Amino acid sequence: MTKLWGGRFAGDADPLMARFNNSIHFDARLWAADIEGSQAYAQALQQAGILSPEEGAQISAGLDRVQAEWDADRFQIQPGDEDIHTAVERRLTELIGPVAGKLHTGRSRNDQVATDLRLYLRTMIDELAAHLAGVQQALLAQAERHLDLILPGFTHLQPAQPVRFSHWLLSFFWMLQRDQELLAGARSRVDVLPLGAGALAGTPLAIDRQALAARLGFSRVSLNSMDAVSDRDFVAEFLFWAAMVSMHLSRLSEDVILFCNPHLGFITLADAYTTGSSLMPQKKNPDAFELARGKAGRLLGHLAGFLTTLKGLPSTYNKDLQEDKEPLFDAIDTLTLLLPVLAGAIATLQPQPERMAAGLDDFMLATDLADWLTAQGIPFRQSHHIVGEVVRAAEARGCTLRQLDLATLQAIHPTFTAAALAVWDFERSVEQRGAMGGTALAALRGQLAAARTALLPAPGA
Ligand code: ARG
Repeated sequence: MTKLWGGRFAGDADPLMARFNNSIHFDARLWAADIEGSQAYAQALQQAGILSPEEGAQISAGLDRVQAEWDADRFQIQPGDEDIHTAVERRLTELIGPVAGKLHTGRSRNDQVATDLRLYLRTMIDELAAHLAGVQQALLAQAERHLDLILPGFTHLQPAQPVRFSHWLLSFFWMLQRDQELLAGARSRVDVLPLGAGALAGTPLAIDRQALAARLGFSRVSLNSMDAVSDRDFVAEFLFWAAMVSMHLSRLSEDVILFCNPHLGFITLADAYTTGSSLMPQKKNPDAFELARGKAGRLLGHLAGFLTTLKGLPSTYNKDLQEDKEPLFDAIDTLTLLLPVLAGAIATLQPQPERMAAGLDDFMLATDLADWLTAQGIPFRQSHHIVGEVVRAAEARGCTLRQLDLATLQAIHPTFTAAALAVWDFERSVEQRGAMGGTALAALRGQLAAARTALLPAPGA
């Protein structure tokens, strides 16, 4: 098999070197993007007068045939196919003869691979945005279904204050909404055409790169050919997004894993998203969420690894850049599975109102008692101190806060009246937090409406 670059070489590459060098086993998935790029490039060559209309038509029809083979899963990768670009061109030559050799005029695999990767990633980003919206939708639907349920809220993983279950769910909705915004920003930087940059110096041909960009649906053309072939910022940025979104989902997963532990029991998971133990018959393990938490480590690793690959590279293309693909593809594949699984696992989880109620204790209302004192005109710092003494009294007696009678409270501070006892009410506590962003029903309804609007598909999408 003659190599694309075989002319100046006397012998074949060492077989291990060939295996080391080849990328076809992971970049074959770029076939559709590679053919799309070549179709557009053939047209550009024809407009530049490099290909006659007949040659242009022959190449285009030949590329259609190569595409049909891939579509039908009939494309045969050959041992000499170094990468997807080589494979497509080799097959095109077999199908249409030497005229295929004109397609690469003025093009380098350096601008070709950058173009392919951007085309491919742009499509994948749109799919992942939809998968992410699926997770957001699951959170939103659960929040709407269980709007007023009250959940023990934690800080430092210690009982803190009551919050609505829907408030907890929506907190993750907003993290994912920021991830949507991040992804849209990343997409705009993917959406740039490198083709026409050549190997590094630009093309001597009269290629209309604006027209080429329009044909491939790119909104911008790269303005520096050296930057065009070396820029993989868009890969790093996507990997950052993948690390970020998986970190958010990992934190959600950590909560879910805790909440479904029978000792808390705030939620139960559907059988469809849990697994059993091979040894302990009673076990129901939250594997979907554990894996989501685990994958976050892997995705973060891809980001750190790829930035390290980039950091020492000299200008323009270096073969190190071939290392962009495996982490990128793995991140895409991982999230393409993880996001729909989590959407399903979230959509089917069942809150357990009695267990949440059982998890609420009066100490979580201590702040409300302090707020009550403050409303009577006592400075909050002092109220905090007084209620601290109330807590200490309850602990000394081994009772809950509401079991302390008014006389005991008044002995601690004379400001206490019977009206203070109204704070021993979890519903009242959450309804106190009515300012924007709080956990009272009215604020939550506003939040839900905002979330619904945010999730609406962008106009024209
Ligand atoms: N397989 C290569 C990659 O993924 C394609 C570009 C090769 N370019 C080159 N000059 N060897 O980066």
